[in-house]
Amino acid sequence: MRSPVSSSRAMRAEAGPRRISILGATGSVGTSTVDVVLQQRAAFEVEVVTAQSRADELAAIAIRLGAKLAVVADPDAHGALVAALSGSGIAAAAGPAAIIEAAARPVDLVVAAIVGAAGLAPTLAAIEAGADIALANKECLVCAGTLFNRRAAAVGVGVLPVDSEHDAIFQALEAENASAVDRITITASGGPFRTWTLEQMSRATLAQALKHPNWTMGRKITIDSATMMNKGLEIIEAHHLFDIESDRIDVLVHPQSVVHGFVAYTDGSVIAHMGAPDMRIPIAHCLAWPKRVAVATPRLDLALAGTLTFEKPDLERFPSLQLARRALESGNWATNILNAANEVAVQYFLAGEIDYLDIAATVESALDLATATVGGAEVGSIEAALTIDAEGRRLARETIARRGRLRAG
Ligand SMILES: NC(=O)c1ccc[n+]([C@@H]2O[C@H](COP(=O)([O-])OP(=O)(O)OC[C@H]3O[C@@H](n4cnc5c(N)ncnc54)[C@H](OP(=O)(O)O)[C@@H]3O)[C@@H](O)[C@H]2O)c1
Repeated sequence: MRSPVSSSRAMRAEAGPRRISILGATGSVGTSTVDVVLQQRAAFEVEVVTAQSRADELAAIAIRLGAKLAVVADPDAHGALVAALSGSGIAAAAGPAAIIEAAARPVDLVVAAIVGAAGLAPTLAAIEAGADIALANKECLVCAGTLFNRRAAAVGVGVLPVDSEHDAIFQALEAENASAVDRITITASGGPFRTWTLEQMSRATLAQALKHPNWTMGRKITIDSATMMNKGLEIIEAHHLFDIESDRIDVLVHPQSVVHGFVAYTDGSVIAHMGAPDMRIPIAHCLAWPKRVAVATPRLDLALAGTLTFEKPDLERFPSLQLARRALESGNWATNILNAANEVAVQYFLAGEIDYLDIAATVESALDLATATVGGAEVGSIEAALTIDAEGRRLARETIARRGRLRAG
């Protein structure tokens, strides 16, 4: 096991405001990041903010933060962005290539908060440019974890885990005692269907799946939480961040979301991390690391929280967890397929075109089919990662079309 910041060469040495860029600034993690930065205005200078298409929201953020450049991935949103920034002196750009270019502008830290595999190329560009990464976009590691780590180590940048469970492990991990770690545990709320039977789940609606009990998040990760694929992706994320094998990473369902993760050492000690379920807490930790800054966030009141409970996840009702472990055992090509197929299946579910239980079934089918087409392929470059990603998407669409035809009789 190792600390994910062991190769950071920049952040310990800086003086003056930390220069940052925020990729995915209009999203749930993005806007929480904006909030933290606004609370600690003097501590940060913002270079770049990006979004997919919500130009007006992005322009408002750029103006509030005094960013130098705002970029939308969608070229059709360029006109609206230019208009909304008019007179502000902030530059505007558009298109996926412009996002990658912007991510590579020299800064100390890039907050990677784009959702999905779309974040991989910009985040790798930021690494190549020498920025430390505050990583929310776990799909980067699921798509190409070995490549990601290899490039981060070669360039000498650190990866700070924004995901609350991984930030918890990061904080509970004594870097000098990493070799004395026995196991790590990440917790899961269990999502809205924690107590539902499979029969009930077969009738779960989109509105029910989008109703997360504890966290307010973007739509994709909210559905991933309902299927518990999010925890599967997080097992893979933990493996790459901390260089620890799948069979030493445990998942515990903890509906109160107070304990986010813990590290068990070989002497029997267990160090747990607690906090209110608010992403501004891990974000503030990553933005200021290795210092801490004062941020107005909900405070944990254990007397109010009352009883804390923990239970093992039910792998029959939540098969995504096992699919993720199976993919992790098979290698980067398989986790890449898992991610791509899951992104497609979640999109179809969000569009009302497949049922909740079809999500995991689609991912499993894509994984099975991919063994014959890309099984064992190396994910040694961004091009290879994107090729396998495209195959995962194709296989997922094919599976959904086939199941649709079967149902139609
Ligand atoms: N939300 C949480 O509490 C949380 C916690 C831990 C980890 N994470 C992880 O953090 C990442 C972001 O999650 P989120 O919930 O913040 O997502 P979100 O609310 O959906 O926000 C996604 C952000 O990415 C932008 N974006 C979407 N597609 C893009 C593309 N193809 N190219 C460039 N930008 C694109 C969006 O722009 P528009 O606004 O213009 O669409 C938005 O700024 C995910 O990987 C998630 O797993 C989230």
